[in-house]
Amino acid sequence: MKYKKLGTTDIETSVIGLGTWAMGGWMWGGGNDKDSVAAIHSALDSGVNLIDTAPAYGLGRSEEIVGEAIKGRRDKVVIATKCGLVWHTDKGNHFFDEEGKPVHRYLGADSIRYELEQSLKRLGTDYIDLYITHWQDPTTPVSETMAILEELKKEGKIRAIGISNVNKEEMSEYLESGTLDSIQEKYSMLDREIESGLLPLSEQNNVSILSYSPLAQGLLTGKIDPERTFSGDDQRIEDPRFSQENRQKIAAMLSKMKPVADQHNITLGQLVIAWTVSQSSQMFALCGARNPVQAKENAAAGAVSLTNSELDQVSSALAAYF
Ligand SMILES: NC(=O)c1ccc[n+]([C@@H]2O[C@H](COP(=O)([O-])OP(=O)(O)OC[C@H]3O[C@@H](n4cnc5c(N)ncnc54)[C@H](OP(=O)(O)O)[C@@H]3O)[C@@H](O)[C@H]2O)c1
Repeated sequence: MKYKKLGTTDIETSVIGLGTWAMGGWMWGGGNDKDSVAAIHSALDSGVNLIDTAPAYGLGRSEEIVGEAIKGRRDKVVIATKCGLVWHTDKGNHFFDEEGKPVHRYLGADSIRYELEQSLKRLGTDYIDLYITHWQDPTTPVSETMAILEELKKEGKIRAIGISNVNKEEMSEYLESGTLDSIQEKYSMLDREIESGLLPLSEQNNVSILSYSPLAQGLLTGKIDPERTFSGDDQRIEDPRFSQENRQKIAAMLSKMKPVADQHNITLGQLVIAWTVSQSSQMFALCGARNPVQAKENAAAGAVSLTNSELDQVSSALAAYF
């Protein structure tokens, strides 16, 4: 596993992080808590120290699972969790309903302080390594949000500040209002929008990029065959990316990359993750996993180094897909 410092901090962080959204169950057709805890243990045992969670992932369920799994090894873990998607107040903007509760985007100072205390309890800790504004709230000035986050940092309750789902202007405002150490954005072979704005801005300002959904929610693992079905509230049921036609296109693209994977004796999913992490010196990949097998496989991608010519081979297979 390779490790890098998070933003301007001295927090040594694994380039592969474990994402725990699916462990919350919500939007992923339910979850299995026993498998989730085992997945977290497997990731930690494989050198992953970065674990990403959020209150919104199952209204606290994901954070509770993480808290349970890291008992006795808290000091070995870089916990990233989030604020700003709230169900204790109807201030801010209504965003969606989860388990019958209206969830609002709200980043006011009092609410952030309240949310942090709830997260600390669920995670069984007295500090968060990276505290991230999950979605942006147009009703609160960034300067107010950043002021409370800086205050929490001085109090030792959080160690670093991150933001998620921002545009370039919002990121610039955060940079002007305090010390920003990380952004968290959708980034994969199929989702490369940040390359034209947020990625270069991060590199210029020593801000780490935590890419989310680097496996395009499993599509890029090479394991979504024509027979795979999704159930319950799994968001992939309606997603055109998971149509039979697109599964075929993805399979054709991945087969062109297979010689590179074979050279390293790695799976296609591991190749995809290694390619993603190679796209910037600031890049980390948050890979979701539901069980120990997936977590171990994804973690092992953190040891893979691709040559320039291999990166080019992968990029040309990708270009043929679009
Ligand atoms: N800030 C934000 O707004 C935001 C948004 C999205 C995600 N995130 C974070 O980023 C993390 C990662 O993103 P993601 O979970 O959306 O997508 P992802 O990492 O691209 O895909 C995760 C899913 O792919 C499948 N998978 C993963 N590894 C596999 C393997 N080795 N073999 C076979 N299947 C595998 C699993 O689903 P199945 O087993 O069900 O197929 C897993 O739940 C999240 O968990 C969350 O922590 C943040």
